[in-house]
Amino acid sequence: MADHIETLDKALASLQAPPSTIAFLRDLHIQALSEPAYHSTDDQPITTALDRFVALEPDKCALVYLLLRATGARFVIEAGTSFGISTIWLALAVGQNVTTQQRGDLGGKVIATENEPTKAARARQHWRAAGKEDVERWIELREGDLRETLKTDLPEQIDFLLLDIWTPLALPTLKLVHPRLKVGAMVVVDNLASCIEGYGDLLAFLETPSNGFRATTAPYSGGLHVAVYIGQ
Ligand SMILES: C[S@@+](CC[C@H](N)C(=O)[O-])C[C@H]1O[C@@H](n2cnc3c(N)ncnc32)[C@H](O)[C@@H]1O
Repeated sequence: MADHIETLDKALASLQAPPSTIAFLRDLHIQALSEPAYHSTDDQPITTALDRFVALEPDKCALVYLLLRATGARFVIEAGTSFGISTIWLALAVGQNVTTQQRGDLGGKVIATENEPTKAARARQHWRAAGKEDVERWIELREGDLRETLKTDLPEQIDFLLLDIWTPLALPTLKLVHPRLKVGAMVVVDNLASCIEGYGDLLAFLETPSNGFRATTAPYSGGLHVAVYIGQ
């Protein structure tokens, strides 16, 4: 655990946020890091993750936050929200980008997605506690199956898609979002290397040149795939 805490504190040092938000986020990450590793198997179907954070690790959250800040991303989709840890990092970046660009009129938001009502309820509590102005106000949570909830009312242009979802849902999600990706948008996929068997269809789509992506897998735990949409 000591190693985890050191990595967590390094990750949190990358973040611009009020001390109370950082303290709250730190506590959530510690809870997430303390839970047993989660792997879905035939004996343990994915529905058993209801009481688990299964959160994106802090060093990955830090990279995602910095990518969003570097690119000025304002419209972000998060596929898979759980208890809302990664969403806090996304919302901080989007809120700060909107403020920095001094174009509040252009707006910005994180569209979060969660299928499980109990998880969605807890995520909402966490966002409120993390900060009403800095975090909560930048998030629109769509409850239900994202294959339905992302079918309509997407932003005109999407800057960033985080795929932190069960593998069979990754490609269907990307296909819904793909027509709205702006040139230069990023798609980040967690655990691409460790779940490579499940991600075959997604990878084939990303590697088809006519779909317009270039990508690399960063050597974070499990492999963090970073694809950039360069256009068709
Ligand atoms: C890996 S967790 C997300 C973790 C989160 N990004 C974080 O870092 O805290 C994946 C989540 O996707 C949710 N999920 C699974 N199938 C879904 C679906 N069809 N629509 C929306 N959410 C779904 C699960 O309930 C689970 O909470």
